[in-house]
Amino acid sequence: MELIFSVFITILYVLTRGASGATNLFNVMDYGAVGDGKTDDSAAFSKAWKSPCNSPSRNPILVIPASKIFLLKPVTFSGPCKSTSIHVLMSGNIVAPDSKSAWKGYHLDMWLAFTNVNGLTIIGSGTINGRGAIWWSECSSYRVPEGGTCKGPTALTFYRCNGLVLKGTKHINSQRNHIAIFNCKDVTFSNLHISAPKTSPNTDGIDIASSSNVRILNSFIGTGDDCIAISSGSSHINITGIACGPGHGISVGSLGAHGGNDTVEEVHVRNCTFNETMTGVRIKTWQGGVGYARKILFEKIKFIRADNPIIIDQYYCPGGHCKNETSGIKISDVSYRYITGTSTTDKVINLSCDQNVGCTNIQLYYVHIISTVPGKKAYSFSFNAHGNCTHTKPVVKGLQP
Ligand SMILES: *[C@@H]1O[C@H](CO)[C@@H](O)[C@H](O)[C@H]1NC(C)=O
Ligand SMILES: *[C@@H]1O[C@H](CO)[C@@H](O)[C@H](O)[C@H]1NC(C)=O
Ligand SMILES: *[C@@H]1O[C@H](CO)[C@@H](O)[C@H](O)[C@H]1NC(C)=O
Ligand SMILES: *[C@@H]1O[C@H](CO)[C@@H](O)[C@H](O)[C@H]1NC(C)=O
Ligand SMILES: *[C@@H]1O[C@H](CO)[C@@H](O)[C@H](O)[C@H]1NC(C)=O
Ligand SMILES: *[C@@H]1O[C@H](CO)[C@@H](O)[C@H](O)[C@H]1NC(C)=O
Ligand SMILES: *[C@@H]1O[C@H](CO)[C@@H](O)[C@H](O)[C@H]1NC(C)=O
Repeated sequence: MELIFSVFITILYVLTRGASGATNLFNVMDYGAVGDGKTDDSAAFSKAWKSPCNSPSRNPILVIPASKIFLLKPVTFSGPCKSTSIHVLMSGNIVAPDSKSAWKGYHLDMWLAFTNVNGLTIIGSGTINGRGAIWWSECSSYRVPEGGTCKGPTALTFYRCNGLVLKGTKHINSQRNHIAIFNCKDVTFSNLHISAPKTSPNTDGIDIASSSNVRILNSFIGTGDDCIAISSGSSHINITGIACGPGHGISVGSLGAHGGNDTVEEVHVRNCTFNETMTGVRIKTWQGGVGYARKILFEKIKFIRADNPIIIDQYYCPGGHCKNETSGIKISDVSYRYITGTSTTDKVINLSCDQNVGCTNIQLYYVHIISTVPGKKAYSFSFNAHGNCTHTKPVVKGLQP
């Protein structure tokens, strides 16, 4: 992989250097970074970032060299940059401070962030290690309720980055969620490896919010929370070739908290495997919201011992203090096709739609999930869900054509 990246970067270098005559490689080592895993390299990285960002070169490249470990405090790499295409060659590794005091004077929500950088490509086989255990510990004395949050920064945030590519990198042990995409358009993530212990609280793999045209491809995500969560304002999201688990599966939502007007549409999840996840493919909404979740497709999914594989939950209420509301997020045009596998429980399908709004045009086609519980037959439950169900076991009553 490293070889391919080097060749790729060399070609870029030759091409762009040839064109502009100016150098376009900027190595963090030339800006005072030490890379011994102990020295705070934040200032060197901030300084180094200004060069490619302000470079008039057509294709500036920030180089984070291999075989080094850079200790970074919270750092924001901000744009706008001069070039419409900027590369970060991530061959080296980045680690977070091992103490929360490093966040004194910084926003607690973020560790590393890119904001307002268009045409950003981060590529390489380096690892970003959040050393999250110090943040999890305050949560681990009690079981964090689903949807409850522990304080802690997102390891890597992209805010307003259009035309974003992230490829090949490893992400481990984030303080809270590993990667957040917020307000971005045209995003492609591929060949990522994201991992944290099954018991680590709130360590979502990738969170997508207010973003469109997002592709997440061929990656491994195994953490303590959602592999991928898609929240309000997101549309045209394609997720393909993800090996998810452990974790809580792939979720749309939660939507409609506190009466919110939340919308998600055109989400395609294909060719994914869920290995020992708590839930599998899930749409979750609070009662009392407005807005919609629609045109959602789950296709060619395989479950290996997932606890609750298929869920629509319109009564999501992790704190347990919700009123019986009259409005609800409208769920429609959701298809489940060619889904197979096993569940560690017998509750394999649960479509609990809002009592007032209901779900419409829910389609199941060739869905077959069996229970691994000895002597128990898999069953399904549905409430106020409308649509049809063909070649599916267990049959979802009420969805029959
Ligand atoms: C998602 O996949 C569909 C069907 O393959 C395709 O038409 C659409 O353009 C894709 N969208 C994105 C954002 O890649
Ligand atoms: C399905 O995903 C796997 C990775 O999990 C990948 O190797 C394979 O090529 C994908 N197949 C298709 C048809 O996309
Ligand atoms: C919710 O937001 C959508 C899109 O922004 C808008 O079209 C719609 O009118 C809003 N609905 C309500 C009830 O506010
Ligand atoms: C599923 O996860 C278990 C436990 O982590 C692992 O031993 C097994 O190899 C995984 N199976 C697949 C098909 O990835
Ligand atoms: C909630 O309100 C609906 C009417 O909007 C009613 O049919 C239902 O029984 C109520 N549920 C509970 C749990 O009170
Ligand atoms: C289905 O989900 C609803 C909403 O979370 C829950 O109240 C209900 O107990 C579940 N039913 C089964 C059979 O698991
Ligand atoms: C299922 O319902 C949809 C409309 O909701 C329809 O287009 C489709 O033909 C139906 N499929 C079957 C097998 O009845």
